[in-house]
Amino acid sequence: MQLAHLAWPEVERYLASSDAVVIPIGSTEQHGPNGLCGTDFLTADGIARAAGDAAGVLVAPPLPYGMATHHMGFAGTVTLRPSTLMAMVHDVVGSLHRHGFRGFYFMNGHGGNIATLHAAFSEVHHALAGCRFRLTSWWQNAEVRKLEKELFGEKNGRHATPSEISVTMHLAPGAVEPLGAPAVIEHPRHDWPLSAEDFRKTFPDGRMESDPSLADAGAGKRLFDLCVKLVAEDLWSFTSGGRAADAQDRDAH
Ligand code: NI
Repeated sequence: MQLAHLAWPEVERYLASSDAVVIPIGSTEQHGPNGLCGTDFLTADGIARAAGDAAGVLVAPPLPYGMATHHMGFAGTVTLRPSTLMAMVHDVVGSLHRHGFRGFYFMNGHGGNIATLHAAFSEVHHALAGCRFRLTSWWQNAEVRKLEKELFGEKNGRHATPSEISVTMHLAPGAVEPLGAPAVIEHPRHDWPLSAEDFRKTFPDGRMESDPSLADAGAGKRLFDLCVKLVAEDLWSFTSGGRAADAQDRDAH
């Protein structure tokens, strides 16, 4: 069920039985020599819509921009300043809160968003009563990492991974041009975070330690189906009163 496909009386009817909404968020940024600039919001939105349907939870339109300053050395990348991203989250959540939404489940596709989203949640908690937040980054899950390892081993790398590119091949057939030859994997020394200029010098084609030539749509379907199952289960726990104490984030203290 997508907010974009409902009329307002239908949203009111939904709110009579649920106050939860999924907000997909990603980034528009380079993803190596053949990955799509939309990879991070396409994956987050695709997983969110399928999981939302499975769990009966409304899914808001995806937020296609994120915190991507380090990718600005590559054409096509668009970044929000962290302060803009926090303001956007505050305004989107604040608008939905005014209509009665209280449970905000952020389905994230971009690692660079995580720190800023946590800061935004703290700010919104302070300003608006009764909010519940959960942030899920689809690849940060033991079962997903196990499948990634089975599919791509050490060649999954850290950016422009064959995993995320495979998921986009499944979601947008024909959009990704296959790489002609395996990519050479290097592990250059560097300190994180990198500036836009240093990122391009350190990782000249935009990949970080990955071989995107391994990506394929069949692997993407396996990853996608697993993520949808896991996120749907997580949505059930989110809408039925929270996670078990032993499953809480370890850094919550
Ligand atoms: Ni990505």
